[in-house]
Amino acid sequence: MSGRTVVTGGAGYIGAMVCDELLDAGRDVVVLDVLMHGQDDVADDLAARGVEIVRGDIRDAAAREQAFAGADAVVHLAAIVGDPACARDPELSQEVNVEGAKAVIEAARGADVQRLVFASTCSNYGRMSDPTVPIDEQGVLAPLSLYAEQKVQIEQALLGGDFSPLKVCCLRFATVYGVAPRMRFDLTVNEFTRDLHLGRHLEVFGERFWRPYVHVGDAARAVRTVLEARMAGRVYNAGNSGENYRKIDLVEIIQGRTTNGSVSFVERQEDPRDYKVSFERISQELGFHTTMTVPDGVSEIIDGLDAGRFGDPLDGRYRNTP
Ligand SMILES: NC(=O)c1ccc[n+]([C@@H]2O[C@H](COP(=O)([O-])OP(=O)(O)OC[C@H]3O[C@@H](n4cnc5c(N)ncnc54)[C@H](O)[C@@H]3O)[C@@H](O)[C@H]2O)c1
Repeated sequence: MSGRTVVTGGAGYIGAMVCDELLDAGRDVVVLDVLMHGQDDVADDLAARGVEIVRGDIRDAAAREQAFAGADAVVHLAAIVGDPACARDPELSQEVNVEGAKAVIEAARGADVQRLVFASTCSNYGRMSDPTVPIDEQGVLAPLSLYAEQKVQIEQALLGGDFSPLKVCCLRFATVYGVAPRMRFDLTVNEFTRDLHLGRHLEVFGERFWRPYVHVGDAARAVRTVLEARMAGRVYNAGNSGENYRKIDLVEIIQGRTTNGSVSFVERQEDPRDYKVSFERISQELGFHTTMTVPDGVSEIIDGLDAGRFGDPLDGRYRNTP
């Protein structure tokens, strides 16, 4: 694999790991990112390793043009990420996650880019009628939030349209966890591990609802895998069928590794997502297998906390909403 690859949102949680994967693969990497969470340090580190940084907004035509010139692939990660962030500013979310995504696709096409990978989410599955039977890519989508609705909208535009010569592929990531250059502590595994290990009290709701998880490094490798396989017009769940957990399972795993903190299980109507996901397609068609498990990730985060790696792990820069 060679050539110039643009990673929109490349200074984000998954993005910085994707940049590493693509550098490893020998690609020239360009990041188009507005650094909305103040990740100048992440961008500087990437630049020091040879990544070209275009600090700009995907909604800005001039920034897109600068980043996409001469590129043969685009990995589109830039977004207002997560249910709370989208619910907090639906207008911005529409502009970035829908209009911005469409502008990226059109700009890629206009710049003769050959491949585009779109970051989607397993949240698209929403609440399943029987969450114990794993859902695959052909299953019914039932998005429960604006964030997931917008992902579904772009997926459908990509998979239902003809963007030739641009070839498109969607990855529905499981919920991501693990340590990365732009750390996020607003994701379930990361947040639960941090809070318990810091000795805080954790209130958990929906503890019996299923959800799949994938390590941030494996998520990044999934991007490289679809680019190298040159897949087109296809959607893949990105994760591992053995890595579906309930929150109650996560708590048990974390409590097996730290005796700090306490937990109570509470009733709340929020976040009724309940889905168990099959990742057989990406494994069978592309030979993609994850290397990390949730217990590995929990240990990695605890080690990072113990090493003081995050400064103040409660700092607002580790969240996508205040
Ligand atoms: N983290 C997860 O669990 C998860 C799961 C499924 C899908 N995804 C998807 O993966 C992608 C990356 O998510 P993440 O967890 O790395 O989130 P993140 O918030 O860390 O990364 C998003 C990046 O996009 C950038 N950005 C936001 N708006 C922009 C704009 N208008 N122009 C340019 N850059 C902009 C941000 O500065 C940030 O670097 C997103 O599309 C997200 O929806 C994430």
